[in-house]
Amino acid sequence: MYHISGKSQPPMYTQALDQQGREPSAAPESPEQAARFQARVDAEEKIEPKDWMPEAYRQTLIRQISQHAHSEIVGMLPEGNWITRAPSLRRKAVLIAKVQDEGGHGMYLYSAAETLGVERATLVEQLLSGAAKYSSIFNYPTLTWADVGAIGWLVDGAAIMNQVPICRCSYGPYARAMVRICKEESFHQRQGFEIMLTLARGSEAQRAMAQDALNRWWWPSIMMFGPSDVASRHTAQSMRWKIKRFTNDELRQKFIDVTVPQAQFLGLTIPDPQLRWDEAAGHFEIGPIDWEEFQAVLRGHGPCNRERLEARRAGHAAGEWVREAAAAHAAKRAAQAAA
Ligand code: 3HC
Repeated sequence: MYHISGKSQPPMYTQALDQQGREPSAAPESPEQAARFQARVDAEEKIEPKDWMPEAYRQTLIRQISQHAHSEIVGMLPEGNWITRAPSLRRKAVLIAKVQDEGGHGMYLYSAAETLGVERATLVEQLLSGAAKYSSIFNYPTLTWADVGAIGWLVDGAAIMNQVPICRCSYGPYARAMVRICKEESFHQRQGFEIMLTLARGSEAQRAMAQDALNRWWWPSIMMFGPSDVASRHTAQSMRWKIKRFTNDELRQKFIDVTVPQAQFLGLTIPDPQLRWDEAAGHFEIGPIDWEEFQAVLRGHGPCNRERLEARRAGHAAGEWVREAAAAHAAKRAAQAAA
């Protein structure tokens, strides 16, 4: 197992990922408690950290919120790759701000997860050890500047589609964290679209670069929404608990319906020969999704899985002196206050 400090130390967590945080209460959950809880959820009451909640609800939230936090943090890497090579000072300043926003989102989300009784250090250790999942999309490389545009347009676009409904999640701290995150994500989406528009209206070579980026990012963005509803093991229960408001396929379809006309406006071609408008359904229909590729990426075999984790581990190790200095400073301030 990888250790955060690089020094020999006992593992920071010993519980399985489906049994995290504080010890579950010794008393079994009664059907009355569960029914009262479900009635509160059905009445659209927010569940707050000190409220009674089923253990499985708490574990589901820790899983989803921490995976979400990890995605934001790992998501800084593909775009961070282009900060030093952005084509103008303006583009560089905007990209730095965007990448910094993603770091901030990760921090809010770790804080939201901590309200469920799990420690941030434990979650970080799970990411660094490779035990935790993060979004499949961030295991693809950013080969050209157009990829920065495609990420903003498609990946942030998909993220908004998925995350706006989470502002109405039944768990208060997660729902509230998502409000600011979604506002920032919508700026990100627009900056990405603006990059794509500039390239699409540019030279032949720039248009080709934009098309190439769309070719490589389209299907991974479609997969970001997760497995199809029939294969999604958590959706039904998460919908009952109002953690999720729409299924993976519903959100995927909304994204496709919004994004295809945007590609048409850009004059770019969606890389799907089977894409067609279904007049009767009022939706765009797409060709088959390559679920084997999705599963391979989840198993760690995407193009950049190894590189992403190595970068996070190196970043975490390089920041150790900052954590030590912050802890020493806090201890000094506490000692001064106590004197
Ligand atoms: N990448 C990696 N794993 C994925 C995945 C994806 N795109 N989609 C699903 N999975 C995993 C699930 O985490 C789950 O794994 P687990 O059981 O080991 O925890 C398994 O596949 C089964 O999927 P389910 O559909 O049953 O899982 P969920 O009900 O949790 O739905 C989800 C998956 C839709 C991603 C949901 O967790 C969710 O809405 N999460 C919050 C949003 C989020 O995390 N987004 C990630 C991107 S963040 C981002 O893009 C940053 C932005 O700045 C660009």
